[in-house]
Amino acid sequence: MKKFTDPILVTRPYFPDLESFKRGLEEIWQNKWLSNNGPLVQRLEAKLAEYMGTRISNVSTFVNGTLALEIGFQTMGLFGADVITTPFTFVATAHALKRIGATPVFADIDAKSFCLSPAEAEKHITHRTRAIVPVHVYGHPCDVEGFERLGRKCGVKIIYDAAHAFGVKIGGKDISAFGDMSMFSLHPTKLFHSAEGGVLVFKDAKLQRKMTQLRNFAIMDEVRCIDVGTNAKMNEMCALMGLECFSVIDKLIASRAEIHAAYEKAFADCPEVYFPDPATLRGDLTPNYAYCPILVKDFDTREMLYAKLKECNIFTRRYFYPLLTDFDPYIYGKDSCPVAREIAGRVLTLPTYYGLSVDTATEIAETVKEILR
Ligand SMILES: Cc1ncc(COP(=O)(O)O)c(C=O)c1O
Repeated sequence: MKKFTDPILVTRPYFPDLESFKRGLEEIWQNKWLSNNGPLVQRLEAKLAEYMGTRISNVSTFVNGTLALEIGFQTMGLFGADVITTPFTFVATAHALKRIGATPVFADIDAKSFCLSPAEAEKHITHRTRAIVPVHVYGHPCDVEGFERLGRKCGVKIIYDAAHAFGVKIGGKDISAFGDMSMFSLHPTKLFHSAEGGVLVFKDAKLQRKMTQLRNFAIMDEVRCIDVGTNAKMNEMCALMGLECFSVIDKLIASRAEIHAAYEKAFADCPEVYFPDPATLRGDLTPNYAYCPILVKDFDTREMLYAKLKECNIFTRRYFYPLLTDFDPYIYGKDSCPVAREIAGRVLTLPTYYGLSVDTATEIAETVKEILR
């Protein structure tokens, strides 16, 4: 088995052209403006709104995705409510609910997309439910039509954790067009990043005023503070990073698509590995290929593969394992989601990032196959 000389990490952040970044820094120096809704933050919000086919009044940026979620939930008035979500996600989804005083209620996922299932979510709806927070896991879209119907039928808000889904389109529409609100994480591990950052895109433009207040302590002027806000503003340095990465977004998605295709080709003759192609989830999908998850036969095989790949200097992630319902704050939901448990025990995400060559991706896949033989 080939041992790679340099470690192959599951992801690496994209670094924009340094000269172009320096020019941006010069602009910041000239502006003498570092935070509090500066010109670069405003420019990034305008560009994102245009890209997503919405208005700047329906987009807000934040210091990170987690605080964006918290402020989104707070703005939606979810304090004291039950909110249905998935255990197959990153902890931030549930933490953000808990931290604003809502109770996450865990429902099972769909075995094909790995996203929360509308039918399973519906089983958990009670008079205390005020929202559902499905997650577009790995950028795979949830059943957005199913959630729209459920939201209307039960009178609950649909707020997507779209942390992984930047650039995904359904029927030519940006994925943020679905639901009442969507949150995108701009963490450096993501396809498109701003060093740290988060974005909320929402249907009701009236919410923006409230969000803008809450992300700046809810301070209105020198003598008025109208709510319990926090400091969640994006700063100018992060906005610059966001603008630089955004300027090459097509290149970032295309490179991941190439890596995805290389894995797909390499696993075509390997029935032991299920490599989901997001494009097969629905005919009208434009995927972003943000992650490359595989499923293997069972838990023991996954654990063995994970360990042996490490010996070869290939660092995969058991993403998402354990389930949130295995963690102390959410243990009350343990064993309530058998499909999520099964997938969490069999999944492994393979390296993918801008700069990973197609040849290396093929070698990684061949190493996986050799280990499984
Ligand atoms: C599904 C999901 N939700 C929320 C977050 C939180 O985003 P951030 O790291 O920008 O706070 C992440 C981040 O990795 C995530 O993967």
